[in-house]
Amino acid sequence: MSRFQDKVALVTGSSQGIGAACALRLAKDGCDIILNGHKFDERGQEVIDQIEALGRKATFVTADLSKAKEAMRLIDDAVATYGRLDILINNAGIEKNANFWEVTEEDYDLVMDTNLKGIFFSTQSFVKYCRQKNVPGVVINMSSVHEEIVFPHFAAYCASKGGLKMLTRNLATELAPFNIRVNNVAPGAVSTPINQALLSNKEQLEKVIQNIPLRRMGKVEDVASVVAFLASDEAAYVTGSTYFVDGGLTYHYEEQ
Ligand SMILES: NC(=O)c1ccc[n+]([C@@H]2O[C@H](COP(=O)([O-])OP(=O)(O)OC[C@H]3O[C@@H](n4cnc5c(N)ncnc54)[C@H](O)[C@@H]3O)[C@@H](O)[C@H]2O)c1
Repeated sequence: MSRFQDKVALVTGSSQGIGAACALRLAKDGCDIILNGHKFDERGQEVIDQIEALGRKATFVTADLSKAKEAMRLIDDAVATYGRLDILINNAGIEKNANFWEVTEEDYDLVMDTNLKGIFFSTQSFVKYCRQKNVPGVVINMSSVHEEIVFPHFAAYCASKGGLKMLTRNLATELAPFNIRVNNVAPGAVSTPINQALLSNKEQLEKVIQNIPLRRMGKVEDVASVVAFLASDEAAYVTGSTYFVDGGLTYHYEEQ
């Protein structure tokens, strides 16, 4: 029997990067997958093709997760697709680089709405479904090392991930009686399109790598394997935690 026999997972923001890797990893372990993004394009189709090649089912449901109504509708559509939903991976997220004193209200709202409000309401909708059907659930939120450590010029991003840290702690406690587990995964510096500017700047990239004890950027698969563990019954007693996947970055200290 495979790890996720008969289970269905929704992975938000999954046409590329960490989300696509999580979707593929869960599918490899036997899960059927609902993919999501703002819009369906050839990258989404590619992920579907890869999942189907593994012998699993995949469907793409579009939704703009910066809007609460869309986030809630996504859960309804996901449940309707294969008739059940066991695992919710809240992965979609964005960051905006600006000096604190130059951040616009529009950018602040977009970051907070995507990284925190959307997750709040997709999770709320998922919890209503689990309670109505009286089934257990697993929620994994894609946080960041910046739920814990500073990132100057990314104030809204840090505020959103810091908020996600407390949301997870709070929900883990409130939802434990319903056997709904909630955890965060906190990647460090992972090679994905979100880091395009860094990846194309050799000098800055080298500085970042020198600050990572394992001396390399993370791979999307490094994150996906931890997500798969947390989503599985092997993590049945894990809730309210953050798993850092950061090559040692967060608690790195060295005498120069
Ligand atoms: N790459 C890293 O180094 C890193 C580090 C820490 C945390 N993270 C977190 O991991 C998650 C995934 O990031 P990634 O690196 O794969 O980035 P990415 O930009 O490659 O992927 C993000 C995905 O989210 C989707 N998305 C964004 N806004 C959306 C919205 N409103 N509605 C629906 N989909 C939306 C995008 O279309 C994209 O597919 C994010 O939450 C990010 O904050 C990434």
